[in-house]
Amino acid sequence: MASARGNDGFDCPSFYVWGTENIKRSGRRVGRLQGIKQVPLASEGPLWQEATMDLDYTPILLPNPSRSTAVTLAEYEARGGYGGLRKAVALKPEDVTTKVKDAGLKGRGGAGFPTGLKWSFVPKGPGPKYMVVNADESEPGTFKDRDLMEVEPHTLIEGIAIGSYAIGCELAFVYIRGEYTVAGERLRAAIAEAKVAGLLGSPAEMLTKADGSPFVLDIIVFLGAGAYICGEETALIESLEGNRPMPRSRPPFPAVAGLYMKPTVVNNVETLCNVPFILEKGVDAYKAIGNPPNNTGPKIFCLSGHVKKPGNYELPLGKVSLRQLIEDFGGGTPSGLPVKGVLPAGVSAPIIPAAQLDALLDYDGIKGAGSMLGSASFIVMDSSVDMAWAATRMVEFFRHESCGKCTPCREGTSWLEKTLFRIMDGGGKDGDVEILQFVSKQIAGNVLCALGDFATSPVMSSIKHYPEDYAKHLLKIGKKTDRAAE
Ligand SMILES: Cc1cc2nc3c(=O)[nH]c(=O)nc-3n(C[C@H](O)[C@H](O)[C@H](O)COP(=O)(O)O)c2cc1C
Ligand code: SF4
Repeated sequence: MASARGNDGFDCPSFYVWGTENIKRSGRRVGRLQGIKQVPLASEGPLWQEATMDLDYTPILLPNPSRSTAVTLAEYEARGGYGGLRKAVALKPEDVTTKVKDAGLKGRGGAGFPTGLKWSFVPKGPGPKYMVVNADESEPGTFKDRDLMEVEPHTLIEGIAIGSYAIGCELAFVYIRGEYTVAGERLRAAIAEAKVAGLLGSPAEMLTKADGSPFVLDIIVFLGAGAYICGEETALIESLEGNRPMPRSRPPFPAVAGLYMKPTVVNNVETLCNVPFILEKGVDAYKAIGNPPNNTGPKIFCLSGHVKKPGNYELPLGKVSLRQLIEDFGGGTPSGLPVKGVLPAGVSAPIIPAAQLDALLDYDGIKGAGSMLGSASFIVMDSSVDMAWAATRMVEFFRHESCGKCTPCREGTSWLEKTLFRIMDGGGKDGDVEILQFVSKQIAGNVLCALGDFATSPVMSSIKHYPEDYAKHLLKIGKKTDRAAE
């Protein structure tokens, strides 16, 4: 039986997922918003469910299914923790990178870029290099990194230390979104524990490198002020430097000129939490999890929206279908209504229609279903959801979060929002759907960072898969729609 993390509580204050509430925004009603159903997370005491699906897998990233407190250093070491770091520093740095490459680990922050390859881009030689951990976790429906930091801070610290050794970094940063105060406190406490134990510091007294010199690493935890764009790696670097978080033009890429214009690797929390297992148990053991060669290792799937048991589920890549995740792990829709569509990467990738629910949960499977795995944050929508309305809510989010640096995104998201509001308010005209498609095409591929492209996904995919949801609003031209009247 797979041990999976989930909950069936909808009432604890923590994280917004989609339900069915009416809310007023900015003094005006924008329709029937689906929101404010909330998922309890580690610091609030998670509830746990047994999955109904048999799966021969023991979680390695979140191995403590019933836990809400942080694992201490003593507990972590008792289960072999920091064994991966000890093995890593006994190797040459480039051999550590080769192991991570061979394991096939892909970045879990969204883009799925091969981690070992990214580390290999950092120039060798003297001078400062930085490891920056992306703990911004600002994608709607994403709450895996928070769970990892709150419960398993030492796994992350060990991953940071191994990655830092591989690239030659002696000062690492963890950029945490400002709302994650508990995660920040627990990480700071765990770093202090590791320093006292001689596993971190200048030098870390208990660790000697392969060349005979002492291992040196300090980790600074930095809490951001909260903006979606701060999750984009170059905006994050700007924010860390104290500047307004606007993405940089590339090249140069961060591996060559990142933080303070020095070589920098930006990795997601979950990515680095995979690394200790690779060093401790070996490349083959890691590749045995998942669906090699393209989809190795475990993945935490954040499940929310119209499911009975939203939560974090750690599963091997490529072994479970989207339908199984929703039904066997998530318990199906609370209403009993059929699933209409699923957002697989928060709100940043095309909606997967119900016809594709048998897609396997890995990079290739979700691509084959016409979307992207991204952060693997699955927001389920049952047949009660009006997809034109859902696209409106997502575009409203992107328009608000656009940093405004490039014109197609700044102006285009605003035009998408205006057109969608008009349609939703009952003033839609013939040709409005074509305007939405035209504006989307002007944005996608013509912007500095992926936020602009993300903004077009809900629009294009909802028009493609659910044209009837737009048609019903356009047929009501000149009248207030049911939703607008609510
Ligand atoms: C608008 C935007 C928001 C992003 N938000 C996050 C985020 O919250 N967390 C994250 O890890 N990556 C985020 N990313 C991806 C990062 O830019 C970067 O690819 C990632 O941190 C690299 O880590 P990885 O290789 O370990 O996945 C975002 C990208 C964009 C364009
Ligand atoms: S695409 Fe949007 S968010 Fe990204 S840099 Fe341009 S304006 Fe800013």
